[in-house]
Amino acid sequence: MGTSLTTDSAPASSPGVLPATAYDVERIRAEFPALAQEIHGKPLVYLDSAATAQKPRAVLDAVARFNERDCANVHRGVYLMAARATASYEEARKSVQRFVGAESSSEIVFTRGTTEAINLVAQSFARPRLAPGDAVLITGLEHHSNIVPWQLVCEQTGAHLLVAPLDGRGQVVIEEFERMLADPSNSGRIKLAAFSHISNALGTINPVERMVAAAHRHGVATLIDGAQAAPHMPFDVGAIGCDFYAISGHKVFAPTGIGALYAKGKHLASMPPYHGGGEMIRSVTFEKTTYAEPPHKFEAGTPNISGAIGLGAAVEYMMALGREAIAAHEARLLAKATEALAAIPGLDIWGRAENKAAVVSFTLDGVHPHDIGTFLDGEGIAVRAGHHCAQPVMDHFNLAATARASFALYNTEAEVEALAEGIRKVQEFFS
Ligand code: ALA
Repeated sequence: MGTSLTTDSAPASSPGVLPATAYDVERIRAEFPALAQEIHGKPLVYLDSAATAQKPRAVLDAVARFNERDCANVHRGVYLMAARATASYEEARKSVQRFVGAESSSEIVFTRGTTEAINLVAQSFARPRLAPGDAVLITGLEHHSNIVPWQLVCEQTGAHLLVAPLDGRGQVVIEEFERMLADPSNSGRIKLAAFSHISNALGTINPVERMVAAAHRHGVATLIDGAQAAPHMPFDVGAIGCDFYAISGHKVFAPTGIGALYAKGKHLASMPPYHGGGEMIRSVTFEKTTYAEPPHKFEAGTPNISGAIGLGAAVEYMMALGREAIAAHEARLLAKATEALAAIPGLDIWGRAENKAAVVSFTLDGVHPHDIGTFLDGEGIAVRAGHHCAQPVMDHFNLAATARASFALYNTEAEVEALAEGIRKVQEFFS
């Protein structure tokens, strides 16, 4: 991650955000009402943004404005409220287009989240292309949402999964990933490679440009699970070169139940619809239905309009704040958290990738991760404990679970210190 504070910087007049040259975390925190509360009588220290992120005023207001003023269905009504709703919904699509770096807003499909985006690609892109003996290549780092949809489509088609292994630091062995693509016995068989940009369980950042280039050398299409990268680092799907990139709204400070799939236009044009229903059609008779153009072909039924508008507001908020500045702030938090936690005797950090986002997965000798999480909650500190929907990652390290602190643009160095202090109290309590 770079440290420049200028990319994506906001004009000083942008509402509700700072110029990116002055990363004033206290002022940013003041824009997130949920962060001001007390939990069990203690100030909230929210360190579970990898699970879901808090929402700034800009997002809450955009959603409220729709519900209070513009609540009408999109692409249907001829009256002013409906026109305003449609305009805001399509404006949000353009915001997401800019956020991911797509060439056209028609390459952005709104979905319920990353999970639905991956299922859409599995069923509408991979399924028609897979035959018995074919394969989908994933990695050992994946969230269940980037494993199970591929297992389902393999069961449906007679294809199988290939899994690139991890090393002891929790990094994909890239040479092995490349070797699997180049293996003559896989030649023409691998129809898609799907991998995360950042691991939710460990924070490992994958070298996605290299992985996409390797796949494309062998004619293999690529999908990137960007759920964890979108809130934390700048990226550009054009520069990465991937065929598909999936994000979730609630990880980027937008509401739950909304997300987006970026897909190259040529793929969307060739893919059958995922769901059928209203608004995704051109004409319907009992004999034959013809479909609308992408992206609407993939958005059957009344969409999550307020969610999409919230997503648009959220990515505008991040772009105005400056995604390089956010990444630099989080890199400082990661360095401090790693140093503070590594200094605690009996604590092990899992996932020591060279290139890592601000996630620290850890265990404490003699204390179950759920007990860590429950005790820390009593201190007002929210962390996740469990397998993080990534059981194969836990298996790789022979673990059932870890505790995980995950940081976001609104966390502070004082919160890192509170975490380290909280863990010391856990140790005292359970000793
Ligand atoms: N994928 C989310 C997490 O990592 C839910 O916690």
